[in-house]
Amino acid sequence: MQLKLVSVVSLVLLHFLSVGHGVGGDSQFIYNGFHGAQLDLDGMAVIESDGKLALTNVTSQLKGSAFHPAPLRFTDAATNGTAARSFSATFVFAIVTDYVTVGGNGLAFFVAPNKNLSAASPSQFLGLFNKQNNGNGTNHVFAVELDTILNPEFGDINSNHVGVDVNGLASVAAEPAGYYSDDDAGDFKNLTLISGDAMQLWVDYDGRSTVVSVTLAPLGMSRPIKPLISVVIDLSPVLSDTAYAGLSSSTGPFQTRHYVLGWSLALDGAAPPLDYANLPMPPRVGDDKGRSKGRDVILPVVAPILALAVAAGVFLLVWRRFRYAEVREDWELEFGPHRLAYKDLFRATSGFDSKHLLGVGGFGRVYKGVLPKSKTEVAVKVVVSHDNAKQGMKQFVAEVVSIGRVRHRNIVHLLGYCRRKGELLLVYEYMPNGSLDNWLCDQHAPPLSWPQRLRAIRGVASGLLYLHEDWEQVVVHRDIKASNVLLDGEMNARLGDFGLSKMYDRGSDPQTTHVVGTMGYLAPELASTRRVTPATDVFAFGSFVLEVACGRRPIEHGAADDNRLILADWVLERWHAGDVGATADPRLCGVYDAEEAAAVLRLGLVCSHPAPAARPSMRQVVQYLDGDEPIPEPAPTYRSFTMLAMMQNADGFDSYAASYLLSSPTSVGVSSVVSDR
Ligand SMILES: Nc1ncnc2c1ncn2[C@@H]1O[C@H](COP(=O)(O)OP(=O)(O)O)[C@@H](O)[C@H]1O
Ligand SMILES: *[C@@H]1O[C@H](CO)[C@@H](O)[C@H](O)[C@H]1NC(C)=O
Ligand SMILES: *[C@@H]1O[C@H](CO)[C@@H](O)[C@H](O)[C@H]1NC(C)=O
Ligand SMILES: *[C@@H]1O[C@H](CO)[C@@H](O)[C@H](O)[C@H]1NC(C)=O
Ligand SMILES: *[C@@H]1O[C@H](CO)[C@@H](O)[C@H](O)[C@H]1NC(C)=O
Ligand SMILES: *[C@@H]1O[C@H](CO)[C@@H](O)[C@H](O)[C@H]1NC(C)=O
Repeated sequence: MQLKLVSVVSLVLLHFLSVGHGVGGDSQFIYNGFHGAQLDLDGMAVIESDGKLALTNVTSQLKGSAFHPAPLRFTDAATNGTAARSFSATFVFAIVTDYVTVGGNGLAFFVAPNKNLSAASPSQFLGLFNKQNNGNGTNHVFAVELDTILNPEFGDINSNHVGVDVNGLASVAAEPAGYYSDDDAGDFKNLTLISGDAMQLWVDYDGRSTVVSVTLAPLGMSRPIKPLISVVIDLSPVLSDTAYAGLSSSTGPFQTRHYVLGWSLALDGAAPPLDYANLPMPPRVGDDKGRSKGRDVILPVVAPILALAVAAGVFLLVWRRFRYAEVREDWELEFGPHRLAYKDLFRATSGFDSKHLLGVGGFGRVYKGVLPKSKTEVAVKVVVSHDNAKQGMKQFVAEVVSIGRVRHRNIVHLLGYCRRKGELLLVYEYMPNGSLDNWLCDQHAPPLSWPQRLRAIRGVASGLLYLHEDWEQVVVHRDIKASNVLLDGEMNARLGDFGLSKMYDRGSDPQTTHVVGTMGYLAPELASTRRVTPATDVFAFGSFVLEVACGRRPIEHGAADDNRLILADWVLERWHAGDVGATADPRLCGVYDAEEAAAVLRLGLVCSHPAPAARPSMRQVVQYLDGDEPIPEPAPTYRSFTMLAMMQNADGFDSYAASYLLSSPTSVGVSSVVSDR
């Protein structure tokens, strides 16, 4: 540390204003820029000449981290080291990505017992944990993550969130990135982490109330009063006695740079305020190396206009090339007509503008667009692909395109696809009435009438029958549920979402086969066999039928864990009690044909029989629905809570799948599988 000969008062001041040095003894530090800072850097992390800390460069699948070198005492001596002290940290960061819609993987502030992160993995592990130690209490790591990729295995809420992590990446609490404005309305304002804009994060822990609060804001704004996250977590068992504060980041398949411009921390007090005027300039988006010298403008006076114009021209050409760059390989020639130009999709969606965002699903964002040539309305699904291995991708594209040839009035047609580095874009027909679950759950939408519901059930049954028995290959959909049923302009139900599970399986560790699907729709035998069959689809269809008739989720969660409502159990119970009519959706206000409703509920129960052999085939289901055959009695002894226990205890089930079961019935994937007939 360079000391200057000044009075004691200004020495203290200097401690707070000093640029580039961690200052403040053993209970606080501040870096207003990192010029000359003695951080312990690892991986890709470097301090750039203007004082920015670049945790990652554009190399993919690597990590970078930085530690404040000195250990800090995080526990309170007064309690003999049993209680964690209050602390407060803040830092300014900027995430710059070369892609329009994706970045990755994010960055985290953390406190760890040592400075050795050599065993941690990049990508979704943020350079903090690895597959073996993720979630293990012996890690003693507390972190706040700025996560820009949706990792279903950690239960991530979206691909742009802030999460509080204890010992692992399944966040204890998480919120979409943004802040609450200080005015009376207190509106929530979204922020996009990968926008390249500099933002500031504050992390505070109050040792007395054991509350962790996290606040995010654009740089230059004063700290919002209401934190984004405020959660009670006692960090006493988490933090080790002496620990190190660090910043960590990692990249996945996408070229993303994570920068930190300033950082401070204090124990038992507020983090020393950063001196914004002395922070390095945030990187400019699109700037080649993130070099921007904004303030020390000593630019040469002569900048020949001609050279500039030529440079601009070249830049435009290059930019065009890169902006619309696609990955195209010889083997794709056979899929020729299905291949769409990225440029067209980019234009169709106004550059993947958030105004065009229809929704975010398990695999990525879905945008509405209008194809420039044909003026067709389309839905473009941007799938973040984990796997660029040629063989895997080839097989996958072949499957998607092959299934995409399916033409049926109750199936959403795939119009084509496009491939970019790390991205697969699937283009579907646009369904103006959105997904069925929105109609069932959204209290604002007009409720669906009984005839509309019956029509949707019939439509899905007929689409599924086509996949199972009438197309050239047996196709198991694997993820039948209300949110995968879309409604076209005439309110016809159409099955969506094909073919993605294969890639999902491949993208994760090849050693483990995840059970992909959605809790509440997963047939119990999947726990032991893991084999999807038409009968597992029939099970899911049964849950779907009950969901549509009752207007309730297959598994509903009350406040307490044991307060779970399993729809099939409940309907069966009411069935045996003789008042199955009481289970029909109250939003129907009693306006439905009671006999029809009873038949449909019965059908739902028969299809969700726990034994696969006892379920009807889709052909039988269609016959039942057409009234050509009587629906059998639901099995009298069947109690699906036994089924639930089976699912939870079976070794075959992924622990994460089980945790979905216990938390919320979220989609963990989308799918279909083709087997030879
Ligand atoms: N073809 C489409 N037309 C209109 N909206 C669609 C289409 N496909 C998907 N969406 C919308 O995008 C959202 C996300 O879709 P999706 O990724 O399929 O969800 P999930 O992965 O949860 O099944 C859906 O809720 C739906 O509203
Ligand atoms: C990124 O960092 C890695 C690791 O330090 C290094 O090998 C690589 O050359 C860097 N890449 C660029 C483009 O600077
Ligand atoms: C701390 O330890 C000392 C000696 O073991 C003991 O006398 C004291 O009561 C302890 N204090 C607390 C707060 O546990
Ligand atoms: C860091 O951890 C790795 C594996 O966990 C170990 O092999 C290595 O020796 C450690 N390095 C130091 C300096 O302790
Ligand atoms: C947690 O880590 C410790 C030490 O590395 C190890 O002994 C233990 O088996 C791990 N626990 C689990 C559940 O993996
Ligand atoms: C913020 O984002 C969420 C989802 O990411 C969206 O539902 C909401 O409408 C957005 N709000 C604003 C004001 O843009």
